[in-house]
Amino acid sequence: MSSPATVSELFRDTMAGLCSGVAVLTTRRNDASPCGLLATSVSAFSATPPSVLTSIGHTSRCYHALAESEHFGVHILRADQERLAHVFSSLVEDKFDGVDWSWDADVPELADTIVYLRCRREALFELYDHSVLIGDLIGGRRDGGEPLVYFERRMDWRLEPAS
Ligand SMILES: Cc1cc2nc3c(=O)[nH]c(=O)nc-3n(C[C@H](O)[C@H](O)[C@H](O)COP(=O)(O)O)c2cc1C
Repeated sequence: MSSPATVSELFRDTMAGLCSGVAVLTTRRNDASPCGLLATSVSAFSATPPSVLTSIGHTSRCYHALAESEHFGVHILRADQERLAHVFSSLVEDKFDGVDWSWDADVPELADTIVYLRCRREALFELYDHSVLIGDLIGGRRDGGEPLVYFERRMDWRLEPAS
């Protein structure tokens, strides 16, 4: 039987080895300020209707805004946006300072990302120290490009086809 510490390490190392795209979730707080955080837990939920799923930690300073706002944004970062990824995974006071962004009605939209999805919050399931947030896709844009990739605690990978 493995010890809880070993199991926790196995979990962390396994998740670090799960290759994923990198997203920034954004929404508006009650005081009308923008907030956002980096998340790799974004995935498709259903195709009909088109909806996405993500998991938000309860300690995130964005948690209550995401849990209460009607809308939120999902931005898939491009390969040259690692600096933006570090800003949105940090605890700096104003993550939007110096970032190119604008309001899409009530959702902060970051410029130049591969994808921006405007989502309407449909469900929130609280469990343990995270909540699963599901949103229906109601708008957005897709410009394409090479994605930023997270793998083995690094984001400076470049994708190349094998042939
Ligand atoms: C690679 C990576 C992936 C992350 N994925 C998630 C995630 O899916 N959900 C989450 O709540 N936090 C995730 N985080 C942590 C948040 O980005 C981080 O805690 C952030 O500082 C929260 O900022 P906030 O308190 O301003 O919301 C991730 C961090 C990194 C570095």
